[in-house]
Amino acid sequence: MLGTFTYDNPTRIHFGENSLQALNQELPNFGDTVLLVYGGGSIKKSGLYDKVVEILKANGKTIVEDAGVMSNPTSDKLNEGVARARAGKADFILAVGGGSVIDYAKAVSVSIHCEEDPWEKYFERMEDVDCEIVPVGSVLTMVGTGSEMNGGSVITNHDKKLKIGHVFGSNVFPKFSILDPIYTYTLPKYQMVAGFFDIMSHLLEQYFSGTDDNTSDYVIEGLLRSLIHSARIAVENPKDYEARSNIMWTATWALNTFTHMGKPGDWMVHMLGQAVGAYTDATHGMTLAAVSLPYYKHILKEGLPKFKRYAINVWNVDPAGKSDEEIALEGLAEMEKYMKEIGVVMNLTDLGTTPEMIEGIADATFILDSGYKKLTRDEVVDVLKASL
Ligand code: NZQ
Ligand code: ZN
Repeated sequence: MLGTFTYDNPTRIHFGENSLQALNQELPNFGDTVLLVYGGGSIKKSGLYDKVVEILKANGKTIVEDAGVMSNPTSDKLNEGVARARAGKADFILAVGGGSVIDYAKAVSVSIHCEEDPWEKYFERMEDVDCEIVPVGSVLTMVGTGSEMNGGSVITNHDKKLKIGHVFGSNVFPKFSILDPIYTYTLPKYQMVAGFFDIMSHLLEQYFSGTDDNTSDYVIEGLLRSLIHSARIAVENPKDYEARSNIMWTATWALNTFTHMGKPGDWMVHMLGQAVGAYTDATHGMTLAAVSLPYYKHILKEGLPKFKRYAINVWNVDPAGKSDEEIALEGLAEMEKYMKEIGVVMNLTDLGTTPEMIEGIADATFILDSGYKKLTRDEVVDVLKASL
């Protein structure tokens, strides 16, 4: 049975080729001083930076630059960005980049007018925003996180060895996001497939929970089938517009709160992956890939009917003459084959994790109880060891 919910997603999406021109429509709705947030330089290489600056100038905006947002953005960088935005009196934030850039822009947006330490308030204490929020718009260049249409913001604190996500309310969602698949063509293959697995993981985190008959589970199965199909094509030919555009839109729907309505989610793969990220700074999607199969095998018995359904409806496993467990395991075996085929990282060792780090990573793992099984700390250690 669907739970009770309010569905509110205020992000306007401008999708498709040349959708960057929609910036001209959007900019007049927002302030005159724009904090232009971007990463380590990919947008300069691709030429996107020049196009964005040209449009900002044509719309009479003053630009305050905030470059160098790293993957897995840090609390130190957040403090630096807040100081820059305050000094420049930014009243609008334009994030041009991947999930890291957009997550960071959201964190800055709720911190400019906040008098407390943002890391402590939003990420350690998980408090709500009680100050003015500077609006954010985004131009997406890396597909995966769904940050373009949600309130998620994940920040890493290296001193404390913690990577924590705060899911803000709809007042922090980007006001608009521009999604042109062509701007994702320049992504290195490693990042591209990491993003593909991130999408898959978002869908699975929501799928592997609950025992009821739920609309979202059917939608998720459809999104997974579309993703698996298109990802295979994109790996062969990264410039296949049909595949890249389908994946871009799937990624947005995979984590724009829609399929989460009325049902719980598991999210332990993300908790494990984030803890690994806090220790290794590894690419988000790859951390998820490395822990997923050991984790799912660990909880398979508790969630058996759903793992069986996953095998049949997503991986086309023929159930005839097999036990439920055999069917479920065959589904995971198909998933493993697919992961290897698209080229994700299959273990934590390849991401720089050492056996000595396991206890610390286990301490940094937030244990949730909304999936099929609440892990003990010892089980977290077991899953991490099995992922090495
Ligand atoms: O920094 P630049 O030079 O732009 O390079 C980036 C970066 O090195 C590069 N890149 C991005 N677009 C490109 C490109 N290179 C060439 N051409 C392009 N078009 O790709 C690298 C990765 O970018 P990044 O933004 O770090 O990746 P992603 O989008 O996967 O974001 C990862 C962050 O998002 C968080 C993760 O934890 C991680 O911190 N997440 C956010 C979520 C949310 N908001 O809901 C949910 C996710 O589960 C995730 O936790
Ligand atoms: Zn993710």
